[in-house]
Amino acid sequence: MTAILETPRPFPQAANSTTPILSLRNVTRTYGDGEGTITALHPATLDVRPGELVAVNGPSGSGKSTFLSIAGALLRPTSGQVVIAGQDVTALPQGALPAFRLKHLGFVLQSSNLIPYLTVREQLTLVPHLAGRNSREAARQADELLRTLGLLDRARHFPDALSGGQRQRVAIARALMNDPALILADEPTASLDGTRGREVVQMLAREVHERGKAAVMVTHDERVLDLCDRVVRIVDGRLSG
Ligand SMILES: Nc1ncnc2c1ncn2[C@@H]1O[C@H](COP(=O)(O)OP(=O)(O)O)[C@@H](O)[C@H]1O
Ligand SMILES: [Mg+2]
Repeated sequence: MTAILETPRPFPQAANSTTPILSLRNVTRTYGDGEGTITALHPATLDVRPGELVAVNGPSGSGKSTFLSIAGALLRPTSGQVVIAGQDVTALPQGALPAFRLKHLGFVLQSSNLIPYLTVREQLTLVPHLAGRNSREAARQADELLRTLGLLDRARHFPDALSGGQRQRVAIARALMNDPALILADEPTASLDGTRGREVVQMLAREVHERGKAAVMVTHDERVLDLCDRVVRIVDGRLSG
């Protein structure tokens, strides 16, 4: 067993702490079949390492959501391979994916998708509660995240008492609750003004850097790209450097 684990990899320099958390290899996606086929994603390859926030930037309809859904094991690629935290998720049966996502992934979407009748703290503790986690421990973790994200004084508020920027920050805090290796954000600044949008991405970048997470943010918002560690363009389903 030990001998197998210690077998040198073909590229030893890649087998250190910078091993990617997300690795996409030639993933493609088509929708429909026959004459109506749309190629939403041409072969795309991308690695994202711990402590790295990568922006995938392109116009509406360029394939960003398709790309992110594949990276988050929400959508199967038509071809190609997706490896997350060392697991080839394209090889997992459909039924294993929800548990895998719950353990390894955090999602932040364009609209924060907060539940109207839960307080800010409850938004964070709901999933741990459903998963049977110790509720006092989850509440402590929620409060620590809310403090870090400058939201602790909002813990008892309902979503309708929050600004758009605060809601997105709550959504980021919620995505961090299960301590995911990989965070995936789909247009998290789309509903925010320039200043609030930058604040949200700054916060995301700080969490990624301080906690050693890997993150992919797809966005058409050019105003936040300078806050990311790397920017990849996507146009007409083609990813480039
Ligand atoms: N479920 C679907 N069925 C058919 N076509 C789709 C579907 N989802 C997306 N598309 C098409 O794929 C292309 C890329 O869409 P999408 O990934 O949503 O782009 P973006 O997020 O950049 O706006 C578009 O032409 C869109 O119409
Ligand atoms: Mg989209």
